[in-house]
Amino acid sequence: MDLLQLTNLFLALYGESDEKPRCFFAPGRVNLIGEHTDYNGGFVLPCALQYGTYLLIRPSALPLVRLASENNEYRAEIPLSAVGKRDGDQWVNYPLGIFDQFKQMNIPLSGFDLLFNGDIPYSAGLSSSASIEMVTAYALTAMLNVTRLEMIDLVKLARRAENEFVGVNCGIMDMFAIGMGKKDHALFLNCLTLEYKQVPLLLNGYTLIIGNTNKQRGLAGSRYNERVVECQLAVTYLSQTHPVSKLGEISFMQFYKMQETIPDELVRMRARHVISENQRVLNAVSSLLKGDILQFGALMNASHESLRYNYEVTGPELDAMVAEAQKINGVVGSRMTGAGFGGCTVSLVRNDTVELFIERVGAGYQKKTGLEANFYLAAVSDGVREVV
Ligand code: GLA
Repeated sequence: MDLLQLTNLFLALYGESDEKPRCFFAPGRVNLIGEHTDYNGGFVLPCALQYGTYLLIRPSALPLVRLASENNEYRAEIPLSAVGKRDGDQWVNYPLGIFDQFKQMNIPLSGFDLLFNGDIPYSAGLSSSASIEMVTAYALTAMLNVTRLEMIDLVKLARRAENEFVGVNCGIMDMFAIGMGKKDHALFLNCLTLEYKQVPLLLNGYTLIIGNTNKQRGLAGSRYNERVVECQLAVTYLSQTHPVSKLGEISFMQFYKMQETIPDELVRMRARHVISENQRVLNAVSSLLKGDILQFGALMNASHESLRYNYEVTGPELDAMVAEAQKINGVVGSRMTGAGFGGCTVSLVRNDTVELFIERVGAGYQKKTGLEANFYLAAVSDGVREVV
């Protein structure tokens, strides 16, 4: 649906008025490496995508927040006095969580009509939810003329909305990538200090292909929060002998020496993933800076293996798709991306192999799982913005 069609739909839903709706866009993101490290104060390397969420928004004279989406039939009309209450398990909780944050910050709210339209596959590990949250936060800041909120504040409040209102204990990576993303750059972020660098993504003859397993996973109902707890447990054990509050503070060498202080083998494996993955992000950034694509790909493969074996968040569908990809000559690396348990893979593929990749991985994956895959060529794009 193009912008004109979306505007017509908006007017059909909410009626004409003197004021035109404004349009905002927030991308989704793909994480290249650094998985399940963000909530552990580790490193990540995501980038913003060309796919994302459009939002048309217009002030309303009614004391209501009216929410509709092109992607979902469910609509809501929330009285301003009721902002702060969840609406069952509906998608509207993502934007409502942002309204709630504004309310908590004592920013005076007024009525608004909103219409969303996203082209990120839902529940596929490409951050469709953070994209809705960030586009709402950015748009509300602009509509209400809140000058004291900078991008980093929006990133933090969107994360709080997801943690407190939606109930997923996610880290800050998704919102950060969506807020700070830059065209043709990967975002190298230290989730402990929030220092970041934009690293030029010079792929020199290679393409990033996202493969959707079409095995959906809902984060709130998944084992994501369980992993968060297991990592906290690892910290509790390690802190008995070493002052540490997050796994990201420990280097791999340190962990190697202290790992026996974690008596539980499962918890030790979770920590091993996080701490080794952190080191892989550092190595991946230096390979990118050197233009060493082969090394970068090898680190992606190692990341998947650790997520499969140590962290156990892959599952048969992601493993099948990655295995099919890794078989192909011209694929330098392939791994799951996002939370896991389904969703998407990301592969680094030589340009002359892209078509063969889509054909072979699609066929091999379907044979193994009975599911049809979808593929998207990633174009690394800018972060959240107004569309004029
Ligand atoms: C989800 C969360 C992120 C991050 C990834 C795993 O996408 O929203 O914060 O934890 O999983 O790396």
